[in-house]
Amino acid sequence: MSAKLHPVPEDAKRRALVDNETYLAWYERSVMDPEGFWREHGQRIDWFTPFTKVKNATFSGDVSIRWFEDGTTNAAYNCIDRHLEKRGDQAAIIFEGDEPDTARTITYRALHEEVCRLANVMKARGVAKGDRVTIYMPMVPEAAYAMLACARIGAVHSVVFGGFSPEALAGRIVDAQSTFVVTADEGVRGGKTIPLKANADKACDIAGRDGVTVETLLTLKRTGGDVAWKEGRDVWYRDETEKVEADCPAEEMSAEDPLFILYTSGSTGKPKGVLHTTGGYMVWTSITHQYVFDYHEGDIYWCAADVGWVTGHSYIVYGPLANGATTVMFEGVPTYPDASRLWQTVDKHQINIVYTAPTAIRALMGAGNEYVSKTSRSSLRVLGSVGEPINPEAWEWYHTVVGEGRCPIVDTWWQTETGGIMITPLPGATDLKPGSATRPFFGVQPQLVDAEGAVLEGEADGNLCITDSWPGQMRTVYGDHDRFIKTYFSAYPGKYFSGDGCRRDTDGYYWITGRVDDVINVSGHRMGTAEVESALVAHEAVSEAAVVGYPHAVKGQGIYCYVTLMGGREWSEDLRKQLVAQVRNEIGGIATPDKIQVAPGLPKTRSGKIMRRILRKIAEDDYGSLGDTSTLADPGVVDDLIANRQNRK
Ligand code: WT7
Repeated sequence: MSAKLHPVPEDAKRRALVDNETYLAWYERSVMDPEGFWREHGQRIDWFTPFTKVKNATFSGDVSIRWFEDGTTNAAYNCIDRHLEKRGDQAAIIFEGDEPDTARTITYRALHEEVCRLANVMKARGVAKGDRVTIYMPMVPEAAYAMLACARIGAVHSVVFGGFSPEALAGRIVDAQSTFVVTADEGVRGGKTIPLKANADKACDIAGRDGVTVETLLTLKRTGGDVAWKEGRDVWYRDETEKVEADCPAEEMSAEDPLFILYTSGSTGKPKGVLHTTGGYMVWTSITHQYVFDYHEGDIYWCAADVGWVTGHSYIVYGPLANGATTVMFEGVPTYPDASRLWQTVDKHQINIVYTAPTAIRALMGAGNEYVSKTSRSSLRVLGSVGEPINPEAWEWYHTVVGEGRCPIVDTWWQTETGGIMITPLPGATDLKPGSATRPFFGVQPQLVDAEGAVLEGEADGNLCITDSWPGQMRTVYGDHDRFIKTYFSAYPGKYFSGDGCRRDTDGYYWITGRVDDVINVSGHRMGTAEVESALVAHEAVSEAAVVGYPHAVKGQGIYCYVTLMGGREWSEDLRKQLVAQVRNEIGGIATPDKIQVAPGLPKTRSGKIMRRILRKIAEDDYGSLGDTSTLADPGVVDDLIANRQNRK
């Protein structure tokens, strides 16, 4: 790969916690002597009972992953209590509301009180250690309080992104058998309200029909909008927290006790409940947060994600708070009131580190440089990118226009499953190449394999696996360990397979090329094509559907749907709208189809398997390179698909 190399800026090198020599030495030790490395770095969190065992993991057979297993600790204690003496009056959370004139600071002491009160409410209403609590909230501090309150009493949280539909929320409530739900009357984003309580009401009804009765729907008053009320089940957040004590002991948890479940999409079936446990996850999120962002005492750090995604779990809540950082929580969107919002917020709170997604960077780049250049941004020191490949143009814009060439960019590759950052530059150590996530973090052993599983050495392009366990790794799919084994450890036995394609260049730098399975990445949000297909075929007019991703200038990938209609059904604009609404109802706005094409027939092999490769090429408008179509049962369908393609260049 010949790519422009950006050497580490002298300033970044001077102040960095880790320079290149340290990186190389620590990395070497972390893979040669993982026991020793993690025995030492496992001390970065506080343990109630110190661990004596460090690592006990196998990727073969039944797949069992255990870290620090005989230690006991508590995630909320590590995020709050242990900081009280030294930084009780320091800001733990700076809340930046949807409207630019609304901001609030929550100190570590205030955070302690809020979390304790909410934990006591949960206990008073019957939540016990191991119970699952569903959190369906806007991006307000109370969402973080709810997560930490669960952690404090040993309940397992399942945060569901506020953009998901009642159907999707219900599915997650049922899978987790969760009878306590936290929500708000309405969310507010970009000046628009989202009817969270009304959605939660519908979800509770659906869950009830599927056998799970929600006993408490705790509702935060965010807007004061009208909501329906079910006596006995529905209670107001603030009414309840006022009734209870402001102190609540942190439960002693075993390192391997579950901390949370987070549902994420895969190639097949319904979203899976990714399960993370306590000790290893806390060590992993805190160490990565500190070194990847070169976090120093007193820095103001902003991850502009939503707590509904893993990025919000690991890098708004757990990692930064474990490190005693000040973490910014942003309720709004980067383009409201206008495209200057992020940079004005940086100036307002004197933010030093910003972590966001390429889709936001591309959208802001499209709006024009004046939105950036009219702000100072002199406080900025490190910029981060996450969620999808960042194209070199967007990288250069972020670097030169936003960072004025001063700020290293950390392009961080990881997944819901990995718990935290895996492949990434370190600001004071890594020379950067735009578009490359560069090198593995401590303890991460990437490997590229070909389709048959042969290991590729040196410069190569293949499928990205990780050969040994790291502390932040998911432990199982909630309620379905077989699915965990099948999904991640069966394609290449004995290895964790990420589902991503990847290239390694002559310098040993990694370049993620995107998913190689039936998962698409829309604006950094992960979507299973199978989920969208099942929503489409649930419509009575549709007999068959196939969904693929295609390149989209802002979203990264767009959603392209091929549908075959039931005999006698005619295509119409009205039907198109119905199908779009159907997908939004079943999943949520993030799954809104960009293109729908009616296909009298889909390209299938003689054994009936849909050849998605062909559908992808047509969606990309790249039908000149369809490859071998001779194995199709009816090669004629391809001509019809091309003639009616929706994405002409
Ligand atoms: C998928 C995981 C990482 C937390 C947020 C998304 C893609 C993620 C990068 C990156 C290229 C990336 C991968 C991965 N991805 N980061 N820096 N460069 N691709 O978590 O929803 O679990 O999605 O996001 O395809 O598999 P997720």
